[in-house]
Amino acid sequence: MKNHFALIASLAAAVMLLSGCTPRFSFSRNVTVNQSLDDLFASRRSVRSYDATKTISEEEVRTLLTASQQAPSWANRQPSRYYVAISPEKLAAVRECVGERNAQNVAGAPVLIVSTFVKGQSGFGRDTAVNEIGDGWGAYDNGLANAYLILKARDMGFDTLIMGFRDSDKLRSILAIPDSEEVLAVIALGYRAQEPGTPNHLALDEIVKFY
Ligand SMILES: Cc1cc2nc3c(=O)[nH]c(=O)nc-3n(C[C@H](O)[C@H](O)[C@H](O)COP(=O)(O)O)c2cc1C
Repeated sequence: MKNHFALIASLAAAVMLLSGCTPRFSFSRNVTVNQSLDDLFASRRSVRSYDATKTISEEEVRTLLTASQQAPSWANRQPSRYYVAISPEKLAAVRECVGERNAQNVAGAPVLIVSTFVKGQSGFGRDTAVNEIGDGWGAYDNGLANAYLILKARDMGFDTLIMGFRDSDKLRSILAIPDSEEVLAVIALGYRAQEPGTPNHLALDEIVKFY
């Protein structure tokens, strides 16, 4: 059975190579890494300079947000909510909420997405927090959903910048965000105008302990 699988995989890879396609998977004894996912991780960077001549459609933003819905959440509570500024008026208004430096950096981005989560959902039983993290689990779920969103964005050829430096009160009033939601990040979406740098990462052994 294993041999049949390996033979089919080799034939598929050979056909793809002959037809000019790059195989996304390689098969050995164990299923091995999908290299294209690593490429996606490497090419996703925080972009702080956007091409103002390029636009992104509502349909494309819907595709991103649909991908974000595939993210796991506490008991499938799906607490994340999104407010999309895509009209010139709302874009200008939201840009005013992210501080001067961020506003300059995302000036050319055609879309700004505000992410929030509904409080008292993730991490809660009947009205009470299940453990000490409380609404932190809502933030956790929103972060996961946003991770899917920004990776899908890169997969579609877009770039992003997550901004935690923002004025939540101002955003609430501009976008009519209810008090039942906590405002988290503003995410700029657009096309890079400059190649971003690659940040340093801690050595793996600084962040992990095996037991
Ligand atoms: C929760 C969060 C808040 C952030 N806030 C800002 C911000 O306000 N302005 C900014 O320029 N970058 C912001 N960043 C981007 C980080 O600086 C960036 O992700 C980090 O330096 C690693 O770089 P990379 O995204 O290119 O891998 C934020 C990132 C996260 C996850």
